[in-house]
Amino acid sequence: MTKLSETAIQEIDEIRRNYPTARAALLPALYVAQREFGWLSPEAYTTVSDLLGVPPAIARGVGTFYAMYKNKPMGRHVVQLCTNVSCMILGVEKLVDFLRNTYGLVPGGTTADNRFSLVIMECIGACGTAPAMLVNDDFYENLTEQYIKEILGKYQ
Ligand code: FES
Repeated sequence: MTKLSETAIQEIDEIRRNYPTARAALLPALYVAQREFGWLSPEAYTTVSDLLGVPPAIARGVGTFYAMYKNKPMGRHVVQLCTNVSCMILGVEKLVDFLRNTYGLVPGGTTADNRFSLVIMECIGACGTAPAMLVNDDFYENLTEQYIKEILGKYQ
């Protein structure tokens, strides 16, 4: 079974105490597990389910519904690039090509060195400063090829 750290177990326990029901605590509890393991394996779902006392199928249903949960192994850094309308109009397709050609990073894929994974997102709320992306939890906007190169250089 996938083992959570004692710190993560305590965090989930505290989260549970702050929500009216165990099911309501699933979103933040799954986030803790994902932060710890990098993704949500079947064992991670079982672990969180056991801690909260909810059926694993319920936890998995939540974790597979929302795009912010990763259900397969990811690279060390996850690039989440928006390709929705504003970003598309402002040239994100060229940036997708740039990521493919420069880093070998394709949508849904991970670089050979496991450094980056690329996830295509719907709108991330930065339409006025598109194109936009997240790298892990860090937000970037007004993207250009040169700017992406600078950004990704910070993540080894
Ligand atoms: S469409 Fe890309 S941030 Fe809104």
